[in-house]
Amino acid sequence: MSKRMYHHLPVEAYTSRDWFDREQREIFSKTWAYAGFMEDVPEPGHYIPVQAGLNSFIIVMGRDRRLRAFHNICRHRGTQLIRAVGKAQKALSCPYHDWTYDLEGNLISVPEEGREYAGLDKSCLGLKPALVDIWKGLLFVNPDPKAGSIVDWFGDVDERIGPHEPESLVEYPDARTSYEVAANWKIVVENYIDVYHLSHLHSNTLQMYDHAKARYGFEGPHFLFWEPPVPEYAENQGRKLTMPRVIPQDANGAWVPMLFPGMGIAAFEDAWNTFVVTPLAPDLTRVETRTRVANVSGWEFAKQSMRSSAFWARFGIRGKYSGADASGADDPMASGDFTAEDVFACEQQQKSLQSPWFEVGPASVGEGPVTSHQKVVLNWLGDAA
Ligand code: FES
Ligand SMILES: [Fe+2]
Repeated sequence: MSKRMYHHLPVEAYTSRDWFDREQREIFSKTWAYAGFMEDVPEPGHYIPVQAGLNSFIIVMGRDRRLRAFHNICRHRGTQLIRAVGKAQKALSCPYHDWTYDLEGNLISVPEEGREYAGLDKSCLGLKPALVDIWKGLLFVNPDPKAGSIVDWFGDVDERIGPHEPESLVEYPDARTSYEVAANWKIVVENYIDVYHLSHLHSNTLQMYDHAKARYGFEGPHFLFWEPPVPEYAENQGRKLTMPRVIPQDANGAWVPMLFPGMGIAAFEDAWNTFVVTPLAPDLTRVETRTRVANVSGWEFAKQSMRSSAFWARFGIRGKYSGADASGADDPMASGDFTAEDVFACEQQQKSLQSPWFEVGPASVGEGPVTSHQKVVLNWLGDAA
């Protein structure tokens, strides 16, 4: 095995199936996992499936309007009970042999029970409970029904992630995105928390904030980050904000925490976004984003194409490279889209990690969060690392 390192972790931590499997088992299968927005399960009988690490869950609202989470595993032979978002009248049926559970997880019917079984005790064959909790309008699920509350898990994070009240905002559905990045999940997270790159990779796309004044650090395994707008942007937000303001003017800034493991939030003066990182393979990661904005009737934001560079050019945002420096019309570095810039950087790094010539250089002050996150991962893996 190679001894090549990437800061605190061996290069293999970003490329090998073995590391990926350990992280799935020790991190993503044992922590609170983001499961969706509160309004994804709005009424009795509504349910959603959630995959987190090795665990598969159902979150369902009972007739008593209580949310419950169960392991999405039939107590007969383990078939997944539900695969898609849906609504049940009173019960959930397994597709394999039609064992049926009520919305509280009790096994209520077994086909041909009298003929197929002698004295089956259905009362001890209910769905295994998991834990669901709500935090800032987000659903979280934990495999262990005795795990405590989400508030315990986030500790003091709550007071330090901005004045936003996401529960009182509404989703802007057109802004929802899901994309894959050909890089390890830690590369994606490290990029999210790398303060050094903000003024460089995003020199033309995130210049409205004053990166030199950023304040950041860890609270347990969770990364917290805040930075103020540059004066010119703060003074002209009246015409520069793309959507209605959601926080008071005297509380301006960008709050961009990365909650462990892989639950990013990006909260600005006019929007509150989630950025959910899901590892798919050692070199493949899914990112899903959703956006909440002011609940202002008549606001015509849906008409605007926020994906086009023409839209952003109106706000003075353009690509890092242009003209002869760009490699073509579809060069992400010429797009003026900071997400495209980030994806480009992550995928390039992942490619370089495969090269036998790769050797990591010294970490800067602004990359402190990157190396700290590597230690968090190591700690979490404990003896399994
Ligand atoms: S596995 Fe579910 S009913 Fe048989
Ligand atoms: Fe970035």
